[in-house]
Amino acid sequence: MSSTVHTSTIDQLKAAPMRILMCAPHHYEVDYVINPWMEGNIHRSSRDRALEQWTQLYQVLQKYAQVDLVEPQPGWPDMVFTANAGLILGDTVVLSRFFHPERRGEEQYFHKWFADQGYTVHLLPNSLPFEGAGDALMDRAGGWLWAGYGFRSELDSHPYLAEWLDVEVLSLRLVDRRFYHLDTCFCPLTDGYLLYYPPAFDTYSNRLIELRVPPEKRIAISEADAVNFACNTVNIDRIVVMNKVSEGLNQVLADRGFTVVETPLTEFLKAGGAAKCLTLKVIEPHRESPQLSTIQTKIIHLEGHLLDSGLVNRVLDTIVTGGGSFQVVSFNLGNQRQDTSLAEVKVSAPDAAVMAEIMAQLIDLGAIDAAETVPASLAPVTQTGVAADDFYATTIYPTEVLVGNQWVKVQDQRMDGAIAVTQTSAGIIARCKLLRDLQIGESVVTGSEGIRTKRKIPTLKKNTEEFSFMGAGVSSERRVELVVEKIAWDLRQIRDRGGKVVVTAGPVVIHTGGSKHLNQLIREGYVQALLGGNAIAVHDIEQSLMGTSLGVDMQRGVSVHGGHRHHLKAINTIRRCGSIAQAVEQGVLTSGVMYECVKNHVPFSLAGSIRDDGPLPDTKMDLIAAQADYARLIAGADLILMLSSMLHSIGVGNMTPAGVKMVCIDINPAVVTKLSDRGSIESIGVVTDVGLFLSLLVQQLNKLTGQYQR
Ligand code: ARG
Repeated sequence: MSSTVHTSTIDQLKAAPMRILMCAPHHYEVDYVINPWMEGNIHRSSRDRALEQWTQLYQVLQKYAQVDLVEPQPGWPDMVFTANAGLILGDTVVLSRFFHPERRGEEQYFHKWFADQGYTVHLLPNSLPFEGAGDALMDRAGGWLWAGYGFRSELDSHPYLAEWLDVEVLSLRLVDRRFYHLDTCFCPLTDGYLLYYPPAFDTYSNRLIELRVPPEKRIAISEADAVNFACNTVNIDRIVVMNKVSEGLNQVLADRGFTVVETPLTEFLKAGGAAKCLTLKVIEPHRESPQLSTIQTKIIHLEGHLLDSGLVNRVLDTIVTGGGSFQVVSFNLGNQRQDTSLAEVKVSAPDAAVMAEIMAQLIDLGAIDAAETVPASLAPVTQTGVAADDFYATTIYPTEVLVGNQWVKVQDQRMDGAIAVTQTSAGIIARCKLLRDLQIGESVVTGSEGIRTKRKIPTLKKNTEEFSFMGAGVSSERRVELVVEKIAWDLRQIRDRGGKVVVTAGPVVIHTGGSKHLNQLIREGYVQALLGGNAIAVHDIEQSLMGTSLGVDMQRGVSVHGGHRHHLKAINTIRRCGSIAQAVEQGVLTSGVMYECVKNHVPFSLAGSIRDDGPLPDTKMDLIAAQADYARLIAGADLILMLSSMLHSIGVGNMTPAGVKMVCIDINPAVVTKLSDRGSIESIGVVTDVGLFLSLLVQQLNKLTGQYQR
């Protein structure tokens, strides 16, 4: 044999023959489907051919190893796959806990065999699946254990392996259902080579593999070889035994000193296994290595309308797609519809960096780290308007930070800010600030420790009924009328109790003939502030002065001769007067949305942009000033009605804390979806023509007024 041997332990073990455990296929069958290979193959395997193929493998292996047999048992057709019996290191075994009930019955027989052989057998907790050497493979040079999770084995089983087997465990996440066990896509070879199929792993796992195995030792195989189970190889020294190999891979292996022995195992492929699955190495060198597991776990708490809002799903998805795994420790559903539920979830991650990334996202979803006692880290602002690199970016949700041992509520909550912390004589103050507003002398919160957000928004005013009737759904035309009814009711309630409604509007309101309805809303006290750009005001004023909007006659819907200049004339007229308010005062502007605002003392703010003509004297071209002005008018709003303006609606969404109802009307579903992303109970999107929406809304309000008067 030609291999170079690195360690004395391996030397000793090589002196003893390699021992392998197999199980004859007398009861083998595809009887159920627990992996994609079995789909369509129920009772489609031939027991005779299976026996023939198995015997051939058995004979090949006998040339290089001592092969032991465990008695097959009727009713347990997958028992042939002894790789899944357990994981052996030295004289210790961790017995498998099968994920699928279909295989759980095998456990007792394997347990007995191990015990009879004198191994120390460790049993995992009942609820913790782990499928033995199918999901855990010793590196042949590094002395650590590669362990898979994602389909059959739970990440949480890995720390047990580390402890019981006294070995460093590197966790790899499987992401392709076809390669559901680690040994279907990953095979450490003699001398630290690695045969593997990289797409079967997530990015993080691939990075980990690349960190541990140098490029010249990595043999990445093609999909064609992978689906022939080329990674499901029995490696003894320089021999690799597998079902089938392509010419290319055969050459690559030969160049590295490996001899491939092909032995067809097609009958077993129908159950999702091949050479390696049919064997278990019962002698594994156990090298002294510090017992290391980098796996981290944390318990998080979630509270709110967890099911209705889809929050549990999002939390669990976030954990899994982030590379972690979870166990729901407890879930208390409220008894009644309005009750909130409370869940306790155990989150595990392969190491601290992955845990930190997952936790950062979970905290934004409102999860509370049950054991959070680590204060938030703070970094001083050293340059005006600039935060430390990993500053925590804020959300719209109420947030608290742990400073020292005190949870401090963050003020001025908004999205995409930093949390500035200052010590004052009155105590610690934490405040959401835009980056540009940061001052030297303040500190910003960095990382994600010591931060908690609340997804459960307290209802602002006691008599406001919840806004959840349609969830965050984007409604179709058919549902528009229902939504309108609800919004009308809300507007009415807010007005009657002296609340605040802010409208953001785009010029489409004017083009679609919505202005007369918006005028009525303003006149009747349903609007407390109007936000928009230069365009809405220009087109509104053009319509009022000349009867056209962008040169189109609003009565007849046709272009007017010379109409393209109308909006410039409108701007010019207002500029002459000095401002919109002055134009109203001077009797020049006598109708329209802007006129109604002035007449009814409804404050408005117009934010400029690069494409503005004019602009009107009222338009703020200094955008920082415009943002500040918007923020001032939004403060204390109960409801924001967003009428067909992507720019201003999204801008407003960003500066508004959670808990403010938002109704977004736009013909473009993308805008509506973007705003309903705030999720849950507080935003409603309606995809429809804004003119139509406003006319229905006014009609509905009139009806309500009728009812009140009756
Ligand atoms: N039908 C068996 C299962 O799905 C196949 C096991 C293959 N074993 C392996 N080590 N990959 O569990």
